[in-house]
Amino acid sequence: MVSRVIPVDPFDLVIFGGTGDLARRKILPGLYRRFRDGQMPDGARIIGAARGEMDDKGYHDFVAAALTEFLPQRALDPTAVEGFLGLLGYITVDATGKDGWAQLAKRMRKGVVQAFYFSVAPSLFGALAERLHKHKIAAPEARIVVEKPFGNDLATARALNATLAEHFDETQIYRIDHYLGKETVQNLMAVRFSNMLFEPLWKNQYIDHVQITVAETVGVGGRGAYYDTSGAMRDMVQNHLMQLLCLIAMEPPSKFEPDAVRDEKLKVIRALQPVDLDDIVRGQYRAGADTPSYTEDAENPDSLTESFIAMKVHVANWRWNGTPFYLRTGKRMKARMSEIVVRFKEPPHSIFEEDTGQSANELRIRLQPNEGMDLTVTIKEPGPGGMRLVDVPLDMTFADALGEDAADVPDAYERLIMDVIRGNQTLFMRGDEVEAAWAWTDPIIATWTAREDKPEAYDAGSTGPEEALILMHRDSRRWRELTS
Ligand SMILES: NC(=O)c1ccc[n+]([C@@H]2O[C@H](COP(=O)([O-])OP(=O)(O)OC[C@H]3O[C@@H](n4cnc5c(N)ncnc54)[C@H](OP(=O)(O)O)[C@@H]3O)[C@@H](O)[C@H]2O)c1
Repeated sequence: MVSRVIPVDPFDLVIFGGTGDLARRKILPGLYRRFRDGQMPDGARIIGAARGEMDDKGYHDFVAAALTEFLPQRALDPTAVEGFLGLLGYITVDATGKDGWAQLAKRMRKGVVQAFYFSVAPSLFGALAERLHKHKIAAPEARIVVEKPFGNDLATARALNATLAEHFDETQIYRIDHYLGKETVQNLMAVRFSNMLFEPLWKNQYIDHVQITVAETVGVGGRGAYYDTSGAMRDMVQNHLMQLLCLIAMEPPSKFEPDAVRDEKLKVIRALQPVDLDDIVRGQYRAGADTPSYTEDAENPDSLTESFIAMKVHVANWRWNGTPFYLRTGKRMKARMSEIVVRFKEPPHSIFEEDTGQSANELRIRLQPNEGMDLTVTIKEPGPGGMRLVDVPLDMTFADALGEDAADVPDAYERLIMDVIRGNQTLFMRGDEVEAAWAWTDPIIATWTAREDKPEAYDAGSTGPEEALILMHRDSRRWRELTS
């Protein structure tokens, strides 16, 4: 059994942007799976909201089509689908207008958990918050869920925080970073903080370096115009990679409670040293045999935006002094792979001869594909022929250990939405965390913007620009192979 399914309290969940791409691909299929697995109480209700004209029946058909499109056939139990559709309603509402708000107010029930998912463009967050307040729709303890991007820099993030704060308390605001909802990410905390094995070694004395890679094979086509105003630094590093780094580098919180965890993450972000520009490599993918170049995807032939970034980062505190964190993320790469590698130091003295093949231990935490962890340990190669050493993984791949159940490990979105209903903010970013992350990234972006730095071109389907390999080689280290 993967997890005990603990039903949540009755709730009204309103999804603004309930007909959008994210709702169709992630939110609604995730909610269906939670319903199918018995996590939703009888009093659960989900209301899609957008400007398009539709009645409840129309929305049922719309959602049924999304489930068929985005869930594997084996996940679709006709009775469960019908039961789930029965929870759904739809309201036509304009975030910036007057229409629909009175009807929405009438539909909301008293005495149940209220959650409002802002799955719309961030420019509409303020208007939604204001109208929920003005029309007295949101109860005092209602929760709002906001999607990324949370601002484009420190100034816009601060403004957004201030706008939301006019109508909602910080304890009501759930800023989603779906990386934090991944099973392995939470497992990382379990592994670190509930085993004696790792924590005593979790420091510069024993860890040589950490690598965090989030590589994608897709380009930015389809959302090129948006991406071109963002780039890998804003789109991936400032949020996802930063959050992963925090979970690796943070001190043990005193409790697994929202503010205890988030206080420790914030300390890590504030301890990040400004990055030397020589320690950053920016790249832009070229056209492949049958794929367009970045500039074609972005429809901007002069674009200086990076679709790849690799950087060396230092956390300035006692625990991590001298242990670098290497971050790497890119589009149109050789493989789709997200992983964290914690590379331990070599033993201080080897009793074996130099050519026996001894190397260092590695803890590898894979977020995708194949969520799981493995730890390489050096052992003697079996057989005669003297002492030859070989690295073998102690494999904790969920798929192997849990068999078919692993396929049913909840998706990050479904886990996070259930946390919203439970009122647990541990896996959501707090406003000060987001601002601290921007405060660290802004000067880096400002420098290369001022210098009009041109990203290095790299081949589609490669591991990124040559310079990223050199970044590691300079330190006599190497990236782990990109494999899917
Ligand atoms: N898609 C993803 O994979 C993804 C991933 C991470 C984050 N996000 C974030 O999630 C949010 C939604 O993204 P998306 O990809 O789902 O966008 P989308 O496909 O463009 O959908 C936008 C949704 O908002 C509704 N909408 C637009 N203007 C509105 C208004 N004035 N009042 C009420 N509803 C309005 C649209 O319906 P109508 O036009 O009918 O109103 C539609 O349902 C964005 O903040 C995005 O950055 C998306």
